[in-house]
Amino acid sequence: MNKVEIEDINELIKKGYSSKAIKKILDDILLLSLKVKEDYPDYKTWYQNKQIPGIFNNTRNIIIAHMNNKVVGFVSLKKTKEEKKICTFYVEKNFQKNKIGTILVEKAINYLEEEKPLITIPIDKLYEFVKIGNKYNWKVTDIQENLYRTTTKEVIVNGTILDLNTQYEQPKELSKVYKIYKFSCLKHFFKSIIYKTDGNN
Ligand SMILES: CC(C)(COP(=O)(O)OP(=O)(O)OC[C@H]1O[C@@H](n2cnc3c(N)ncnc32)[C@H](O)[C@@H]1OP(=O)(O)O)[C@@H](O)C(=O)NCCC(=O)NCCS
Repeated sequence: MNKVEIEDINELIKKGYSSKAIKKILDDILLLSLKVKEDYPDYKTWYQNKQIPGIFNNTRNIIIAHMNNKVVGFVSLKKTKEEKKICTFYVEKNFQKNKIGTILVEKAINYLEEEKPLITIPIDKLYEFVKIGNKYNWKVTDIQENLYRTTTKEVIVNGTILDLNTQYEQPKELSKVYKIYKFSCLKHFFKSIIYKTDGNN
């Protein structure tokens, strides 16, 4: 694989990158994020009204991985007194399992000055985060239905969503929560088969 390079948007702005170049990167990030956020209602509005202004008022940042001027992964971050959060974290499918995610998280932790930032993960993607999460001892603190999507439960890791204020009494391992989820999917699957077979009798 060609060399993947890592850049920090806040740093690029400080270095005096032209606003045209920054806009191109931000547009590319939006395009890439729609691959993983397509079913989040209003993601594009959130990106344009919250994420981009936050970059310019120093409450948000995005760290990107790019190759030959193509953004192949990114982690978008919020850093305020109240909240240190990974808002979105994604590495393009063809580039996954090359340690890009590991490097992006390391950089995110450095920027946020927090090893256990808040992050929410769709439950069906949780297994992809297990290795990275275990490295920093991340724990599931809550699970919410209909938080952003109506189709998938959202797992809250390392804290509480500011306006929700619910939490497990005992935070749980990411892998354990994923196993319980897979088990419930299997149970559901077998139940549906039994139901169909019964219906055929
Ligand atoms: C999670 C994610 C960012 C990891 O990126 P990546 O570049 O593949 O990560 P790395 O190559 O650094 O892998 C880190 C570890 O995770 C493991 N891993 C990566 N992808 C995995 C997968 N699909 N299943 C199981 N383990 C996986 C790697 O094997 C590696 O383990 P190791 O440290 O023991 O070698 C990537 O899988 C992804 O973008 N997933 C979708 C994210 C998503 O849904 N985002 C929206 C909510 S924020």
